[in-house]
Amino acid sequence: MRKTLVAANWKMHGSKAFAEQLLAELNSGLESGECSAEVVICPPFPYLGVVGVAAENVEQLALGAQNLSEQPAGAFTGEVSADMLLDCGVRYVIVGHSERRSLYGESSELVAAKFAAAKSAGLTPILCVGESLQEREAGKTLDVIAGQIQAVIDLGLAGTWHNAVVAYEPVWAIGTGKTATPEQAQEVHQFIRQQLGDAGAETQILYGGSVKAANAAELFAMDDIDGALVGGASLEANEFIQICRAAD
Ligand code: G3P
Repeated sequence: MRKTLVAANWKMHGSKAFAEQLLAELNSGLESGECSAEVVICPPFPYLGVVGVAAENVEQLALGAQNLSEQPAGAFTGEVSADMLLDCGVRYVIVGHSERRSLYGESSELVAAKFAAAKSAGLTPILCVGESLQEREAGKTLDVIAGQIQAVIDLGLAGTWHNAVVAYEPVWAIGTGKTATPEQAQEVHQFIRQQLGDAGAETQILYGGSVKAANAAELFAMDDIDGALVGGASLEANEFIQICRAAD
């Protein structure tokens, strides 16, 4: 049985004071009510320490990062390695977010290398896949996603999908308020499950793209939707707590 996982992607938002305040509200909110989901908070790099300390006292909270270098160490100015993230108490790391792919030119091959670097260090990668509106309208959704997943499969890693998470984030739903319907999301999640094969039967597949407290429960009710990767709604404690509780 796959446990529900709800991950917060703060993107490039927040401050030290914001992080301390939000985590204090999350901690009291999660402790005061039922929430069976695993919860991961992925702040910008500078706030990993603040969030890590606040998350230490809440069993179901884990620390995540939004990116990492595919390199283990060296003369790579501005980069952050998997071992450095481990040093900060990070357990999960987002790889291949559509904003990294489109704005920073990350190819599926580079994303696969980051996936491998995370796995090799003992981090759990959250592999983001998803199609643009143009690709969906051209009927290419499943081909695009198959290609993004195949780049990781082609690495031939042992236990590729063990201690790994996949997040389906249709680009046209990110930050737009246009959430995929539960049926649209389930269709793609089912396809992803098939692509992962038997070895991926226990791999959590998250949905991301305008997830809110109002739509989380109907999404989580679908067979192959195991949680959410949440952007904007994760910046507001009460909204995010309601999403975390929507699985119960
Ligand atoms: O990684 C999650 C993010 O891309 C979704 O953003 O604001 O649509 O929840 P948002």
